[in-house]
Amino acid sequence: MGNRLEGKVAIVTGAGRNGNIGVAICEAFLREGCKGVIGTDFRDDEVAEITERMAQAGPREAFRLWRHDVTSEADWARIAEQAAAEFGGIDILVNNAGISIHSGIEHCSLDDLRKVMAVNHDALFLGMKACLPALEESRQRFEGGGSIINNLSMASYMPSARNIGYHASKAAGRMLTLCASLEFGPKRIRVNSVHPGITMTPLIREGLADYAARGHYASAEDAEAQIAARGALGITSEPEDTAHAFVYLASEEARFVTGASIYHDGCIGQRY
Ligand SMILES: NC(=O)c1ccc[n+]([C@@H]2O[C@H](COP(=O)([O-])OP(=O)(O)OC[C@H]3O[C@@H](n4cnc5c(N)ncnc54)[C@H](O)[C@@H]3O)[C@@H](O)[C@H]2O)c1
Repeated sequence: MGNRLEGKVAIVTGAGRNGNIGVAICEAFLREGCKGVIGTDFRDDEVAEITERMAQAGPREAFRLWRHDVTSEADWARIAEQAAAEFGGIDILVNNAGISIHSGIEHCSLDDLRKVMAVNHDALFLGMKACLPALEESRQRFEGGGSIINNLSMASYMPSARNIGYHASKAAGRMLTLCASLEFGPKRIRVNSVHPGITMTPLIREGLADYAARGHYASAEDAEAQIAARGALGITSEPEDTAHAFVYLASEEARFVTGASIYHDGCIGQRY
């Protein structure tokens, strides 16, 4: 248990699946002393399990897991209002929810492209807009002010022939982050992004197993080993590793850090 986020209140989207990055971020924030962590997700089938896990990381009353569709402006208004009402403000917003529909332009429908853009890009805009007034007040409590952290991907920097929506939306998310950092700086709200490489969440494990089943790799383990070998370190990340980057950006240690990208990818060679 630490105190790097002592007394802060955070919203973390995409925290409804145990083992994923959003849940690991909630856990790390509670361990570092947040007085309120609101995880949100549009799925609610693992609420009891995740709530129990969070109770090991911080006081039971400090954690909530609320149903929330990040593509809905009305949902965002409700979440921002409820969070501020229950915990007295919002200091940290983590836009973490994300989806992928694997397809190149030829086989990607406009509808699918819009679905991916809605979650991976438009929702960042909606979240920042809805939480802006509350985040601006954070400077009255913390010198470092409000902190927005957008969970993007190395896909922000790397093109793909087979995943147009994901890569385009994550690249757009990077520019949105930079624009917001300029706009919100005078309000003492810092806006940064984290760019994970392969992080072993249930979604990724299922994806690797699927690739193996379709004959692209000998097995899921082989797939992980080959993908890990693309990075300088030759390993993959666990969600708990990735969460450390979010703790730093949310903390007072990062009070002079805005518009920054943290590459959390073990240095994938073909970054640019
Ligand atoms: N795992 C990786 O290797 C990796 C690498 C790079 C970037 N990322 C990014 O990290 C983030 C988390 O990924 P993850 O691996 O933990 O995957 P995940 O699928 O477990 O997490 C995403 C969560 O977002 C939720 N979600 C999706 N659409 C939503 C919506 N409209 N409203 C509310 N919630 C919604 C899902 O239910 C899920 O719980 C994503 O933005 C992803 O792009 C992950």
